[in-house]
Amino acid sequence: MTIRYDGKVAIVTGAGQGLGRSHALALAARGARVVINDLGGAKDGTGGSSEAAQAVVAEIEAAGGEAIANGANVAKFDEVEAMVQQAMDAWGRVDILVNNAGILRDKSFGKGSMEDFRLVLDVHLLGTVYCTKAVWDIMKAQEYGRIVVTTSSSGLYGNFGQANYGSAKMGVIGMMNTLAQEGAKYNIRINALAPTAGTRMTEGLMPEKAFELLTPETVTPAVLYLVSEDSPARTILAAGAGSYAVAKIVETEGRWLPEAEQTPEGIAAHWDEITATAGERALNAGFEQTAKMLTQAAEGLGIKLD
Ligand code: NAI
Repeated sequence: MTIRYDGKVAIVTGAGQGLGRSHALALAARGARVVINDLGGAKDGTGGSSEAAQAVVAEIEAAGGEAIANGANVAKFDEVEAMVQQAMDAWGRVDILVNNAGILRDKSFGKGSMEDFRLVLDVHLLGTVYCTKAVWDIMKAQEYGRIVVTTSSSGLYGNFGQANYGSAKMGVIGMMNTLAQEGAKYNIRINALAPTAGTRMTEGLMPEKAFELLTPETVTPAVLYLVSEDSPARTILAAGAGSYAVAKIVETEGRWLPEAEQTPEGIAAHWDEITATAGERALNAGFEQTAKMLTQAAEGLGIKLD
């Protein structure tokens, strides 16, 4: 069955080029009405122009779709609220939010400034928080919402020179984990995309052949799936060059140590068991960790917890 978005309204941030543009074109081609947000600045976040967003709107309209351009800076909550109001005034609802806008200020941690660190957090983490907050009550009232946050292998696994970016990209996963729980009863599903693509962000960082394989269009199907009616929730979907995989945070089974061994030496002595991968699993909520540890402690102490 073809997945479509007829009747749905989507906001895609940073949709003037790269991944966001590709996501927005594909959503519009499948029936969504789309707000094309883009500040239009340089890769490091300086400057701004509405040309890129307007060009994408023109492209969508030429193909028979509906779109409006928006120049909000996602790092400014009042501008984000005005963007959402623009969507409501035009179409009366917001069903889909793709948090995609982003910048880079790469520097090794020692050389990087706190100003750059804050700016990257502002755009990627707070930008995602602001956009999500601005649509949240609308989606709750509609009892329908599909939200994507854009994370990165840099946040999930680390990348030299990207402590600022990696912090922000892992931050959005923290937000997703909680909002997946809070949104569930309102049919709001939130997922994360971990893309790898040849865009201006990655230009010059990889060989030409790799750049050609890593097109944004190979990533976009992952977003389309994550914002579809039958989407999963709380999933980190990695995508690049036509490959798709799920990233998970897992915890080992671990083990309880008797009181005399609840020492750094005890931990060192049992390190192999604590880190053993057999039985490791992804937990669905924070309290599951507490429950697992209490169960182990009760077993170890021979007591019953009620
Ligand atoms: P890009 O630089 O081609 O596009 C990003 C867009 O966001 C630009 O059009 C820019 O004007 C816009 N933007 C930047 N700051 C903004 C702000 N404050 N408000 C509104 N718009 C703003 O980058 P690309 O590669 O398409 O990246 C898209 C997303 O994917 C970003 O969140 C990025 O961190 C993430 N990502 C990209 C990867 C890649 O391999 N290209 C890898 C992992 C994550």
